[in-house]
Amino acid sequence: MKTMLAPSMMCAPIDKLALVLDTFEKCGIEYLHVDVMDGVFVPNLMLGTDYVKQLRKLSRIPLDIHLMITQPEKKISWFAPQPGEFVSVHYESTHDFRGALEAVKACGAKAMAAINPPTAPYVLEPVMDLLDGVLVMTVNPGFAGQKAVPQAITKIAEVRALLKEYGKDDLPIEVDGNCSFEKAPEMRKQGANIIVCGSSSVFVKDRPMEEAIAAFREAVG
Ligand code: DX5
Ligand code: ZN
Repeated sequence: MKTMLAPSMMCAPIDKLALVLDTFEKCGIEYLHVDVMDGVFVPNLMLGTDYVKQLRKLSRIPLDIHLMITQPEKKISWFAPQPGEFVSVHYESTHDFRGALEAVKACGAKAMAAINPPTAPYVLEPVMDLLDGVLVMTVNPGFAGQKAVPQAITKIAEVRALLKEYGKDDLPIEVDGNCSFEKAPEMRKQGANIIVCGSSSVFVKDRPMEEAIAAFREAVG
């Protein structure tokens, strides 16, 4: 399964956005990870509907919209998800997990189920028929720059085994949170194949972005 990179756009410096997007296109970046936060489901406010719509005009790279908002089932249409895009919905953010995933698919986008570090993989079983992917959080969502929870890294393999059990082993597993040069190879080995690249990889301060991307691809394999 091909490893794909999804840089976390909340880490992109706003004053260099055009340059960053140009670099991503040159480097064959596969998705743009857009963290949407409402300040209720997570203790932070980040990127919104207008940012998503503007970003589509600025780049051809498909979006990977990570919704960290309450009652997402009522708000999916606000983001006008497009075919080819991922939209991830947190199990922990709604009483209508199925409805939220169905709302994503109704827009023609790919439905991704997101689970936080304390959440066990079995919660995915009742929605397995709807899934186009799984997002395994290795930090508690809300901020970049946190340290990964070790048990969440090993949980990736449990999710991969569960997908296999349901004949869905071809589905992508995305991993999000402190996917660093040191930790991402283990995350890949555990079965993740879409890696969210944030402050500890693509947006590291001490090396040019193109070099960081090439080195990270090398490191992850
Ligand atoms: C955190 C976000 C992540 C975050 C990743 O809630 O979902 O996408 O931006 O940043 P790092 O890689 O620095 O943890
Ligand atoms: Zn995210």
